[in-house]
Amino acid sequence: MENFIAYNPTTLHFGRNILTILGATLEEYGNRVLLVYGKGSVRKSGLYDKIMADLKMQGFVVSEYGGIKSNPVIEDVEAAAAIGRERHVDVILAVGGGSVIDSSKIISVTIPVQNPAWDFFTGKAKPVSAIPLVAILTLAATGTEMNPFAVVTNHALGQKSAFGSPLTFPKHSFLDPGLTITVPLDYTAYGVADLIAHCFEAWFGIGETTLTDRFVISIVKEAMEFGPKLLGDLKNYKYREKIMFAATMALNGMTMYGRSTGDWGVHSAGHILSLLYDVPHGASLTIVYPAWMRHFRDRTGNRIAQLGSGLFDKQLTVEETIDHIEDLFKSLGCPTHVSDLKIAGDLRKPILESMIHNKVNGGNVKMNEEDYAALIALFL
Ligand code: NZQ
Ligand code: ZN
Repeated sequence: MENFIAYNPTTLHFGRNILTILGATLEEYGNRVLLVYGKGSVRKSGLYDKIMADLKMQGFVVSEYGGIKSNPVIEDVEAAAAIGRERHVDVILAVGGGSVIDSSKIISVTIPVQNPAWDFFTGKAKPVSAIPLVAILTLAATGTEMNPFAVVTNHALGQKSAFGSPLTFPKHSFLDPGLTITVPLDYTAYGVADLIAHCFEAWFGIGETTLTDRFVISIVKEAMEFGPKLLGDLKNYKYREKIMFAATMALNGMTMYGRSTGDWGVHSAGHILSLLYDVPHGASLTIVYPAWMRHFRDRTGNRIAQLGSGLFDKQLTVEETIDHIEDLFKSLGCPTHVSDLKIAGDLRKPILESMIHNKVNGGNVKMNEEDYAALIALFL
């Protein structure tokens, strides 16, 4: 095992009717709220109206920033931070999926400083304080609700980058599985794929830790059992509940106990597809993972075979395991090659250039330009 520190300050509220204490929770921080949300799902579902009515009735002064894009961009973060600064907000209420909550984390540390928000991603600025963040999660996938990470795109610089600090954990996250019932089939599948990929990133990291490996296998098995059931019955609360719980556990630290790092090379490469072609995050991972395992099987074969026997309850070769995992992604309806997305043009060159520019790499399995070219050939 590797030495590790376990730290997670987020209070999680999970289940039905949990929003009844939203007002009391926000009140701990003050009464000027910055409400942040996405392109429209919260308005369509009625959640926006409900929250607005509740907050106004309870005397909160609400400013808002709507329109955060999926694969969020730095311009929205800046614009929302400017509103928060001008209105002297006491607390941020993020209502949405990973894109909204990630953006809100960066908004929370940008409001108190003069620096541009992107400075946190380059290391030019370190957060000094954060406006408290309360999140209401509407899409089970990223785990952002209980971790400090935020991933934002800067198209002007051609980068999709991650940032995290002890200051960027949400103070409270509200997870009512009922709020995810409106997530459409495709994003529900991408969410299941994303949580599986988070487990794999931990699995391929550094540190031998049998107990944590068992956590990982359990979480993936939960997704393998209930993911397909949910996709066949999108309005089923019980299945939504299971996937939401699994997604949070997949990236809240517990799959990392006893490891010094995860790998994250597949995420790093997947971000290039999202950056260049706006590929949904989960779909980018189901495209890159099989290719990554095939290309790096000489370096990771042992772990791939262990993963295979843990997940599929029989002895499998490395190749068979990779085939099974690829089939699993296909059975969720996710793409496993870029060609499945039918994007026109020559993609090899821009992807390669962007991988070089973004220094795509893993924490354990290191990549060079030859690896990039081989990976691209496998996943195009
Ligand atoms: O924008 P709206 O209208 O809200 O629609 C969203 C969006 O179109 C929609 N949606 C969300 N909740 C819904 C809903 N539609 C119907 N009903 C609901 N209840 O779903 C679409 C996707 O939303 P988005 O927030 O983009 O998805 P996700 O949660 O998968 O987040 C993806 C982002 O998170 C980053 C990804 O890179 C990507 O930018 N990640 C963040 C991580 C973290 N913070 O730990 C880790 C991940 O590996 C990942 O990198
Ligand atoms: Zn992910």
